[in-house]
Amino acid sequence: VRKMSSGRYQVFVTRSDMPQGGVDLLKKECDVKISSHPSVMPRDELLKAVAGTNGIYCSLTDKIDKELLDAAGPGLKVVGTISVGHDHIDVAECKKRGIKIGYTPDVLTDATAELTVALLLSTSRRLPEAQHEARTGGWKSWAPTWMTGPGLAGATVGIVGFGRIGQAVARRVKAFNTKQILYYNRSERPEAKETGAIKVSFDEILAQSDFIICCAALVPETKEIFNKAAFEKMKKTAIFVNTSRGGTVDQDALIEALKNNTIRAAGLDVTTPEPLPLDNPLLKLPNCVVLPHIGSAAIEAREVMSELTANNILAALKGGVMPAELK
Ligand code: DGY
Repeated sequence: VRKMSSGRYQVFVTRSDMPQGGVDLLKKECDVKISSHPSVMPRDELLKAVAGTNGIYCSLTDKIDKELLDAAGPGLKVVGTISVGHDHIDVAECKKRGIKIGYTPDVLTDATAELTVALLLSTSRRLPEAQHEARTGGWKSWAPTWMTGPGLAGATVGIVGFGRIGQAVARRVKAFNTKQILYYNRSERPEAKETGAIKVSFDEILAQSDFIICCAALVPETKEIFNKAAFEKMKKTAIFVNTSRGGTVDQDALIEALKNNTIRAAGLDVTTPEPLPLDNPLLKLPNCVVLPHIGSAAIEAREVMSELTANNILAALKGGVMPAELK
């Protein structure tokens, strides 16, 4: 790896609003250049800014593809993303070029599982709608059938993608006295014993679940698995929640399913695109709760994610073992 004339490695941070802890760690040992944008860096600026750098500290809003790797040049040794998801990175191309990838598994599992449960309850018990009524005069009196929604107790909850986050969601929903937890996953997960979750086929999970939660990473096999046919196989009373990636859903099919009451409601922390344009029907439907991709946005989680991202980059630059290398 080429070091800069200072004898230190050069690292580029793609936004100015990264949590401070990680950036400070990098600064101790590297020459750190930071984008001036507290937002997504315009692509042309990013391509120029990475030229000659040894490490890139990025987020899921940066596309790390061939073009960017070419722009960085042969000195690039590591890309560290402050996310567990890595669908924004051309992993194969990085491998080919010997560029290591650092990511942030585990440290955001609790935060994301908490948000998933929050979104599930917000959607089923209609919290945004109810708050809107309270604020705008719709609350006339306590009323026996007003603002009702299905409870979790006694319900069957289906979790699609039973990795770290899916399992953490299962542990939490079990505490609500659910009747059964089902999961759909490529492989059988021994951890399922802890919650008594049962592995079923995709069709079975769709047909049997009262709540269907998507925690699956976005890979070619999960792209738009929640399509028209999938929504039609769900119960009419089903509530669908997605905290993984918008790309797992055929969003037009979801909009139709919500409009036609093919399913009862949806809670989405992730959409296509992000941010969701203000005129998107999902933002107008009363049976849809949309959050701006805040799954891991617990203060503690973001700080640890930042430090892990920095430690991944530092280890790769020094030829050590990365604490969380994407293999
Ligand atoms: C991730 O890490 O992939 C989340 O989407 C953001 O924290």
